[in-house]
Amino acid sequence: MVKVAPSLLAADLAKIGSEIIRMKDAGSDWLHFDVMDGAFVPNLSFGPAILSAAVATGLLPCDVHLMIERPERYIEAFAEAGAKVISIHVEAAEDLVGTLRRIRKINCLAGAVLNPSTPASRLGIALGEFDLALVMTVNPGFGGQKMIESAVEKIPQIRAMLDDAGIAAEIEVDGGVNAENAPMLIARGATVLVAGSALFGASDPAALIRKMKGCGA
Ligand code: DX5
Ligand code: ZN
Repeated sequence: MVKVAPSLLAADLAKIGSEIIRMKDAGSDWLHFDVMDGAFVPNLSFGPAILSAAVATGLLPCDVHLMIERPERYIEAFAEAGAKVISIHVEAAEDLVGTLRRIRKINCLAGAVLNPSTPASRLGIALGEFDLALVMTVNPGFGGQKMIESAVEKIPQIRAMLDDAGIAAEIEVDGGVNAENAPMLIARGATVLVAGSALFGASDPAALIRKMKGCGA
């Protein structure tokens, strides 16, 4: 079954707690937590203190997407704040494999992220070292952007790389995901769908999540 992960970036941030409850009740599986440093991406967002508050609700496992330079500096801080998944960009990590190993060692699931223009082959050296490959389908930094369709072709490429190596890992897609493009993403091999503006902006998020998972409206 496909997992759906609402991106907190699109929530009404004046009421984070009730927004997380709304998404949990709607049938979400994870909470996607976007961390931005104003350097790797031209925007700033949340740090470990806000993650702790989201984790303290006890409602959804937190899926932390680090859009920061040299993410190795902050792995422990986000693990201590309660992250379940910590994903790092292959473009930003100085030691991709070493950092993925460190994430696993502190009992989090490790994710490797590709920007839209970064080829799937960049995951080659890290095969077997991550639990999740995150395919960005917008340039990271802002919610509410339109999906870059060409990036979608990396999903079957990564699925084939994993299958050929006999490795099981999630493939997560992030950026411009909605109920219309979800079936196409799932058909290509996506197993986790991140959605920010589509989900938090929906009048009936439960119906939207059912639709995204392919269980009808
Ligand atoms: C973009 C973030 C995404 C974003 C998704 O930098 O990584 O997680 O919040 O938002 P939507 O679904 O609105 O594209
Ligand atoms: Zn994200």
